[in-house]
Amino acid sequence: MNPLIRTIAGLGTGWAASRSITMLSRLQAGHGETAATKVASRRTFTRNAALGASAVVLAQFGAMFGILMWPNKTGAFGGDITVGPGSIPEVGGDPFRDQAGKFYVVRNEDGIQALYWKCVHLGCTVPYNGGSGHFQCPCHGSIFTKDGSRIGGPATRRLDRMPISVAEDGSITVSTNPTTIEKSPGRTEYVPTDATPYP
Ligand code: FES
Repeated sequence: MNPLIRTIAGLGTGWAASRSITMLSRLQAGHGETAATKVASRRTFTRNAALGASAVVLAQFGAMFGILMWPNKTGAFGGDITVGPGSIPEVGGDPFRDQAGKFYVVRNEDGIQALYWKCVHLGCTVPYNGGSGHFQCPCHGSIFTKDGSRIGGPATRRLDRMPISVAEDGSITVSTNPTTIEKSPGRTEYVPTDATPYP
């Protein structure tokens, strides 16, 4: 479901829950009371209403945080994206660019990687330059090899990677969830364990 629609639905549910709590509290306050207990009942009602409203607000914030951090959409950035075997490059071939997932699939002797195209310096989109065979950031000149190693510019680490799972038919599923992107702080070089073995 669209996150905006889910957020609106969550707010509506929260409003309905708040109204229900208020009505229940009023019913409770109106039954079986004597004059001597009315003041105490009003205090109890006010306290319960405040606690209920606070709980609803906290639940709404929690739901919105969850939607933002763990989007469940598929086929778009933030979810799982499947790449068919026909799109997996040959060893040493040009990267396959996935527009929706914002990644490149690259392949070498060790296997495959899904490289996040967001520059690890300040976040520009890094295009692949077929002439040089490198990824070259247009913003401040960081340069990365096809394996993702940084070989120039101000970036302080290699390109980030997205987790890959390989199916029996040779297709791969790439998780583009921002919380699972694999970073290598302080490491500029590719190492073989960065790659996922590919048949
Ligand atoms: S954003 Fe890529 S080098 Fe600065």
